Amino acid sequence: MIDTNDSEFLSRIEDKSLLSKVCDAKTAAAMIQPGDIIGISGFTPCGYPKITMHELAERMKENPFQVDIWTGASTGSQIDQELVEVNGVRLRTPYQTNGVLRKAINAGQLGYIDLHLSHSAQQFREGFFKNSKGEHVTGPDFAVVEACKITPEGIIPTTALGNTPVFVSQAKKVIIEVNTTQPVALEGMHDIYEMPNPPFRKPIPITHAGDRIGTTYIPVDPEKIVAIVPCDMPDVTRPLAALDDDAIAMGDNLVEFLTNEVKQGRLPENLLPLQSGVGNVANAVINGLVRSDFKNLSVYTEVIQDGMFDLIDADKIDMISGTSLSPSPAGLQRFYDNIETYRKKIILRPEEISNNGEVVRRIGVIGMNTALEMDIYGHVNSTHVTGTKMMNGIGGSGDFARNAYLSCFFCHSTTKHGDISAVVPMCSHVDHTEHDTHVFISEQGIADVRGLTPKERAKVIINNVAHPDYRDLLMDYYERACAACGNSQTPHILKEAFAFHERLAETGSMKLKK
Ligand code: COA
Repeated sequence: MIDTNDSEFLSRIEDKSLLSKVCDAKTAAAMIQPGDIIGISGFTPCGYPKITMHELAERMKENPFQVDIWTGASTGSQIDQELVEVNGVRLRTPYQTNGVLRKAINAGQLGYIDLHLSHSAQQFREGFFKNSKGEHVTGPDFAVVEACKITPEGIIPTTALGNTPVFVSQAKKVIIEVNTTQPVALEGMHDIYEMPNPPFRKPIPITHAGDRIGTTYIPVDPEKIVAIVPCDMPDVTRPLAALDDDAIAMGDNLVEFLTNEVKQGRLPENLLPLQSGVGNVANAVINGLVRSDFKNLSVYTEVIQDGMFDLIDADKIDMISGTSLSPSPAGLQRFYDNIETYRKKIILRPEEISNNGEVVRRIGVIGMNTALEMDIYGHVNSTHVTGTKMMNGIGGSGDFARNAYLSCFFCHSTTKHGDISAVVPMCSHVDHTEHDTHVFISEQGIADVRGLTPKERAKVIINNVAHPDYRDLLMDYYERACAACGNSQTPHILKEAFAFHERLAETGSMKLKK
């Protein structure tokens, strides 16, 4: 653990007038008061403040109290695990992926508000949120942010941006952790652009993934900085699953689909800017593109996982725009080892820009997101296991799916050893409606449902994407629903629509008992 006299740490505070604010993490954590709202830098377990939040959790062990945590998305264990284990969080928004936090949310230990990530900055700024006293507020009490250095112009962020700019501009006080494990070569990768609220908003001048429209630093009022803390704890990212046969099949199916779109003249040869979701499936799908013949691709996405580095190394990428690196531990090391190459191809933006519907629609993004389940008519559940239990959250999937030129959803056709079918008669929770979904891809095949009626969609989804073990069951439901509803627009037997989910709850499997 480095201390406040560490020469590397002190050298990264280039604005020497700020040296009087240097203190240790315990002192900084002691400034936070019960009921405060804390805005956290970064996005995924990248670019988040570590030591101050750890010290806050330690303090809460001795003197229990609660705070509200606003973030960019998921964060690291010091926030989403340590604070939760001491019951230190009253409200958490807008996204998470931590197992301990997930369990606490689903046990009702704390409040969780799951937001479209592109909307979150605006909602924080506009006063949509209330503090623990029930008062509407237009920013957090504290922004606690990680920096790789502080220049006279402002904060140089690290491996992710998320909502850091809005937290810094709207917070009453700012605590900065200068992390000496983060390379100073990160400077220059960011493009900070904060939008005014309506009616003063202007068009966002991005027409290509690589356009730069802002500054490389986050402006900060020095008067608001109350602490500058040394930290040498690294980002602790999550491993990604190894590519298996199903993942390779999904990637191949995507390439087959896109190749045909180019052949038909609906996409240019280098496609349109790609967006890829979070998690194992999204990472695996990108790998299909690495193996493809596509070249000169561009990416306008939210998270940059390992597959994107593969695309850069395969010389297939012109530019990647995102809000966060989100690599595996090996991927993060690979990024650090090759930072001079990767930094030329990557721009990190605030999430209200990386996920902005106006830009996504203007540049014609190909959205590629992952479903927990989809129904036979093309609705998608990305968030709630069996309709009630929060998995992670909607994240940016809605920002992209709703505005994409082409909105694709991926999933394994079954999970949990075949006991859960991804295709069900009716989704137990709906995040993306039939109006926002164009193409479904599983390891089984491709369901292109563009231009199809709900009844036509059902047949394509069941026959092309569902697992063969469930096709007869689904088709039987669909045919009986058509008969029961007199072939109405979207046939259902309401009493039976959740029979797959009920059977899972009762028997542990969606399959019929032999
Ligand atoms: N019911 C119950 N569990 C399910 C399920 C279902 N219908 N479908 C998947 N799961 C489980 C899997 O079994 C797996 O469980 P495990 O962790 O115990 O092994 C887990 O969910 C993750 O599934 P996996 O197949 O590995 O997919 P993933 O890592 O690609 O994650 C989502 C899939 C949907 C959870 C993830 O993509 C997500 O949270 N998406 C919403 C946010 C989003 O799309 N953001 C993108 C923004 S750009």
